[in-house]
Amino acid sequence: MDHFLYKDGALFAEDVPVAEIAAAVGTPFYCYSTATLERHFRLFDEALAGMDHLVCYAMKAASNQAILKTLAALGAGMDVVSGGEYARARAAGVPGERIVFSGVGKTRDEMRMALTGGIRQFNVESEPEMVALNAVALELGVKAPITVRVNPDVDAKTHAKIATGKSENKFGIPISRARAVYAEAAAMPGLEVIGIDVHIGSQLTELEPFRQAYEKVAELTEVLRGDGHDIRRLDLGGGLGIPYTRSNEAPPLPTDYGRLIKETLGHLGCEIEIEPGRLVVGNAGILVSGVIYVKSGEGRDFLILDAAMNDLIRPAMYDAHHDIVPLIEPAVGVEPVPYDVVGPVCESGDTFAKGRMLAPLEGGDLVAFRSAGAYGAVMSSEYNTRPLIPEVLVHGHEFAVIRHRPTFDEIINRDTIPEWL
Ligand code: LLP
Repeated sequence: MDHFLYKDGALFAEDVPVAEIAAAVGTPFYCYSTATLERHFRLFDEALAGMDHLVCYAMKAASNQAILKTLAALGAGMDVVSGGEYARARAAGVPGERIVFSGVGKTRDEMRMALTGGIRQFNVESEPEMVALNAVALELGVKAPITVRVNPDVDAKTHAKIATGKSENKFGIPISRARAVYAEAAAMPGLEVIGIDVHIGSQLTELEPFRQAYEKVAELTEVLRGDGHDIRRLDLGGGLGIPYTRSNEAPPLPTDYGRLIKETLGHLGCEIEIEPGRLVVGNAGILVSGVIYVKSGEGRDFLILDAAMNDLIRPAMYDAHHDIVPLIEPAVGVEPVPYDVVGPVCESGDTFAKGRMLAPLEGGDLVAFRSAGAYGAVMSSEYNTRPLIPEVLVHGHEFAVIRHRPTFDEIINRDTIPEWL
């Protein structure tokens, strides 16, 4: 459920007509709904009620300061994967003890930054990383709290580019080697082993892969405890999928996911962390775009939008589907027609959808891509020197620009000219 609905034939974000925002900021832009964000965060929090837990929002999905502050105010922790994300989380007022540091290639500088600024734990992904973290911690005279990310060799049944839990993926250490790796970690004086971490992929639409992974984690917890490790925290990653089309069957709800966690791991008495990104922010954001031209091609019509692959790369990168809806609700009985929906960037990959059935549109009309809140703005670029598009946050009757559209001068002035030119 989200708060982007038609009222009297016009698309609203909460209580604000989206066309009003478009008139104020120009298209294209991202628009987020505070109520939807809050609702989705709370669903996770409530799903884990009764267990000692922390929901660490995976801020890679959308990391605007205003989004982080909205979630932090509800008690969210943050899952960060870079020094930049760590800095963003801290700048949004998130205390170090609510930040977990994930990622397969943390640098020593990033480790230093987190150890000095405060960190809940590092999710360590390899032995060389353990060695580096131990060295940095000793140099700073502290102990780094760690979990080790295990790769449970489970098929997440999602798009290959976002599956992470099979043995061929670069993530974590093979679960079969966990005992040896934990023994090594325990022997390093700069590390404090506190738990286990697992994350098997993103946009999972079934619970079964989670069940398989979590059962393996439960078993491993007992084994490692038997080896004398004080396993008291389990980080279960993110990955719960969202519906990208209105018609497809609904993926499992956070409540079902919470129940599964209790069933598989509840008996262990561990503190539970989860790292959802997409489900918190995905359906809390839309991308609003204007139609520049409708061009008749050979046997097809192209809807040429002012948004492009540099603004929303998911269709080009993962063949992802995003529902596209007009800002003005089509009248009853209007027959949809097929469009190839494209952007202005100079490559054929800049195609959002082929043969998409939409009510007839013309130049100047406005449309919205739904479910664009996660991995939308954060994956955008300035390819073709197209400025990063603004982000807007709606809150009831109010809206605010939370990232402005840079001017061409701002973009150009980031370049510096060497002396010899
Ligand atoms: N934790 C870790 C360690 C992760 O790698 C990820 C996502 C998450 C949590 C959050 O997963 P989520 O709840 O959002 O599924 N750009 C791709 C998705 C990449 C996901 C990367 N890792 C896309 O647009 O589909």
